[in-house]
Amino acid sequence: MDDVGARLRAVEEDALARLGAAGAVGEIDALEREVLGSASALAEARRSLPDLPDERRREAGRAINEIAGRLARQIAARRAEVTAAEESSRLERERLDITLPGRAPARGAAHLVMQVLEEVTDIFVALGYTVADGPEAETAYYHFDALNTPPTHPARLESDTLYVEHGPDPEGVLLRAQTSPVQVRYMEQHPPPVYVVSPGRVFRRDTMDATHTPVFHQIEGLAVDADVTFADLKGTLAHFAREFFGPQQKVRFVPHFFPFTEPSAEMHTSCFACGGSGCRVCGGSGWIELLGCGVVDPNVFEAVGYDPTAVSGFAFGVGIDRLAMIRHGVPELRLFFDPDLRVLEQFR
Ligand code: DAH
Repeated sequence: MDDVGARLRAVEEDALARLGAAGAVGEIDALEREVLGSASALAEARRSLPDLPDERRREAGRAINEIAGRLARQIAARRAEVTAAEESSRLERERLDITLPGRAPARGAAHLVMQVLEEVTDIFVALGYTVADGPEAETAYYHFDALNTPPTHPARLESDTLYVEHGPDPEGVLLRAQTSPVQVRYMEQHPPPVYVVSPGRVFRRDTMDATHTPVFHQIEGLAVDADVTFADLKGTLAHFAREFFGPQQKVRFVPHFFPFTEPSAEMHTSCFACGGSGCRVCGGSGWIELLGCGVVDPNVFEAVGYDPTAVSGFAFGVGIDRLAMIRHGVPELRLFFDPDLRVLEQFR
């Protein structure tokens, strides 16, 4: 019997090794037929039991049954394992995604002019300026009188100003054509020193062309302190131009007239369209006006109750839309106000 037992244990060992390697239920079924079926070594050994002498038959029979029992249990356990693995991989393969993708909301962005307006505001905030707001429908007092603009000034003409029908005076209320009245409103409410900027929308009776639209944007600036000079103005505005355009952008100051400043100037920058040689956009001069500025006229201080002998200041008003055009090479101002989004979508 020793050789029968040894032979069958070798069969068992081999069967267990192959069972561990079997990855499919079909393989396990075939293995089961092979090691436990009627043609197996075990069945063969069982058939030859009657030939054994009595004393060895019992022992051999027990050995055969033990081995067959162990193999049957191992096979059943492995079959359960492989069946479960096959089942879960089948479920994985057959998985069906019945969900619908969500609808992505269209992503908006601030208008380029608003982006530039915020950026310019930030440049001055970084210098210590505060931000103030003012009404778009303004009184003639704040817009003209308090800003030292006499009743005969041409800017008051109906051909330039959009008046609003409100109250008894047909020229008492208007859509502001500049952000400068915020200077007056701010100084009325705050004692000096003052360092303030005020961005906003302005309105003019302008005929549309490459650089004019009836609505555009400005940022007003005002600095009032004990000893502010024109040199402070130039330094501040040159700093602003370098911050906004980079150090390469050329600027120049040109004498000008504004009722509320004396002396007054315009700051120009080299034309973005022609680079300075002269074209339709710059009217042939090679320069584009960016802003008006000057040293605050004492009459404005008097109007707000400041003592012109104790304080001095400078002021400026910058065209925001032009800044955006110049830096981004937008050739026509009216593109900013067209409903054609293809232009604006480029500036996110
Ligand atoms: N208000 C002027 C304009 O719209 C710009 C301006 C010029 C503003 C001189 C100022 C200034 O504060 O001092 O053209």
